Amino acid sequence: MKKGLFVICVAALLATGCKSTGNTEEERFIEDLLGKMTLEEKIGQMNQLCFDQPLDSIKAKIRAGEIGSMLNIDPKLIDEIQKTAVEESRLGIPLIIGRDIIHGYKTVLPIPLGLAASFDPQVVEAGTHMAATEAREEGITWTFAPMLDISRDARWGRIAESLGEDPYLSGELGAAMVRGFQGEHLSDSDAIAACVKHFVGYGAAEGGRDYNSTYIPETLLRNVYLEPFQKAIEAGAATLMTSFNDNDGIPASGNDFLLRTVLRDEWKFDGFVVSDWCSMSEMMSHGFAADRKDVARISANAGVDMEMVSQTYIEHLPQLVAENKVPMEVIDNAVRNILRIKYRLGLFENPYAKPGKTSTIYCDEHLQTARRAAVESAILLKNDGVLPLKEDQTLAIVGPMADAPHDQLGTWSFDGDKNRTVTPLRALQTDEYNQVKYIYEPGLDYSRDTDTSDFERVKSAVRRADVAVVFVGEEAILSGEAHSLSNINLIGAQSELLKAVKSTGKPVVMVVIAGRPLTIERDLPYADAVLYNFHPGTMGGLAIMDLLYGRENPSGKLPVTFVREVGQIPMYYNHNNTGRPAQNEITPLEDIPLEAPQTSLGNTSFYLDSGKDPLFVFGYGLSYSTFEYADLNLSSNEVSATDTLTVTATVKNTSAVDGTEVAQLYVRDLVGSIDRPVKELKGFQRLFIKAGNSQTVTFKLPVSALAFYGRDLKKKVEAGQFDIWIGPNSAEGLKGSFTVK
Ligand code: NOJ
Repeated sequence: MKKGLFVICVAALLATGCKSTGNTEEERFIEDLLGKMTLEEKIGQMNQLCFDQPLDSIKAKIRAGEIGSMLNIDPKLIDEIQKTAVEESRLGIPLIIGRDIIHGYKTVLPIPLGLAASFDPQVVEAGTHMAATEAREEGITWTFAPMLDISRDARWGRIAESLGEDPYLSGELGAAMVRGFQGEHLSDSDAIAACVKHFVGYGAAEGGRDYNSTYIPETLLRNVYLEPFQKAIEAGAATLMTSFNDNDGIPASGNDFLLRTVLRDEWKFDGFVVSDWCSMSEMMSHGFAADRKDVARISANAGVDMEMVSQTYIEHLPQLVAENKVPMEVIDNAVRNILRIKYRLGLFENPYAKPGKTSTIYCDEHLQTARRAAVESAILLKNDGVLPLKEDQTLAIVGPMADAPHDQLGTWSFDGDKNRTVTPLRALQTDEYNQVKYIYEPGLDYSRDTDTSDFERVKSAVRRADVAVVFVGEEAILSGEAHSLSNINLIGAQSELLKAVKSTGKPVVMVVIAGRPLTIERDLPYADAVLYNFHPGTMGGLAIMDLLYGRENPSGKLPVTFVREVGQIPMYYNHNNTGRPAQNEITPLEDIPLEAPQTSLGNTSFYLDSGKDPLFVFGYGLSYSTFEYADLNLSSNEVSATDTLTVTATVKNTSAVDGTEVAQLYVRDLVGSIDRPVKELKGFQRLFIKAGNSQTVTFKLPVSALAFYGRDLKKKVEAGQFDIWIGPNSAEGLKGSFTVK
């Protein structure tokens, strides 16, 4: 059939109800199209390219039906190449245009680790929806987010892109991101397809070194690493990306157990699977595939529907099908999965950019969404009373992150315009804060700067001010993909800068802007207050000023454990107990007597030099309000597997300031067929409580939520005793107990 005629047929099919509702029309449309495709055209749909060759040669391939998707191309070219696909290829199948819209498109939100600190699915959903609206306007229809890799290692640069260490929190917020990106209907002008990644275990890279091997046994995989993926898929995620790592010797892009048994058979996923960038061809480097043909065979049979960049499918699948090494059914199913998402995106009807009458990019509403997200993402870690600042104080604004418009946007900010970034310094120049008197003396030009020659000038400025606000942290380039670090102290001469400022005797507020939880224990004595921000995005500076001045009250809580020393890693709250739980405290090494008897320091699980505890626990975060928890009540002390337990407590704002508290619900299964974590988050709620008022927080906990994969690898609730807590973080709270019959 001539291409033009086919387009008319597709349009007629859609007009006669194909688009309306239901899977039947959708599947009929897909089958009809599939029936018209040659093997080469089918394999073309499975091929995703980046712009690594001249435009003309890309267009020639598109015309020949050799490309199903392009990624990370200049948005200005999208409509032009889409037109080539729709109007000049035989079947006119539109491309799906992918891009890393990780935490905002042009208007940049806090990095995902920051969003996670909000413990606020609504703010996360609104933020990702904002990103989708801006992206779709320019013809982008697919993002490679959310990243749901459980991250228990702050050395790993991609912790920045994660939602932290907890599977429940990551699952809840990951699902919120999917809803935000995908909107009500994928075909809407404010929706793009989400891609949950990286399947799976990527965050458990040995030593926190990116791309490294993982060794996650199936119980841990199912109980921890898979949980957020399953939730995001239940929320409707359209696509999924395989990870770079091998787990227990099997690279993810060749793992049919994960991609077929778990994803398709158990979870009934009906979207499509894309590899990561060359993660398929890298199976040769892993030593899992002999050559490029072997790569294509392994990945196709394992269930990777679309290959990102490495092009082994287009080169070798025709031959592999001819040799019967890849069944035709595998190809057909992969193409069905891809066409299904293109269909749901409405691409066959409306493949082009969708500019509205006025652009939504950087519109006021989006800036306010980004500001709210940044406010909720900041965590107050320490406050000796210096905060909130008073309007009549003169500030010394110090430090390399006070005015770092590029770095404040964090990793994965291809599209954010740094000229639109409101840094803390720029915030002081806006109408909202221009009454503040301040002296700006950065002291260091950038976070790695070691030149201390300006420190005397800094000290003199601080002496002329009432309070010093020192902005320290990390440049964007120090976190993110392939940017792991083995030393996560404040870098450059930033710790020395803090000391110099503190030596003036003036109160010091330390504001951290970083991509990971840094080891800041050594810096705390030099700060009277600490406000921690994971790179906070376009509106970060205003959000920080709102918080420093008490126009907003800090409410963020840590989505990851902050260790004291890098050598404590991995340290996470939901660990199993050892047979010898730590009892001893830190022993200054110099206090250990010479030739001390071997067992004189006890035999429990801790570090002689840094103890058993982290610096700040998961879920920790202060407020200008103070909250007290009381009256824990359980609807029953004995429940069966089908019951729902209602757990309540009273949270009182005992201060004179209105504030928001994130109340957290934790459980511990005391005895199991395998060891169970000492605590597991099972619920959280943000409670806005007026000064002096109390609120009852109610958690409905279905007993089925206590199920886990035990020794027999079956998911079920095991009878026995459980402890339960409602509290302000993972270390404190009211404790009760109940029995599952
Ligand atoms: C590699 C990264 O691992 C992945 O997360 C990203 O989406 C792709 N590159 C595309 O840029």
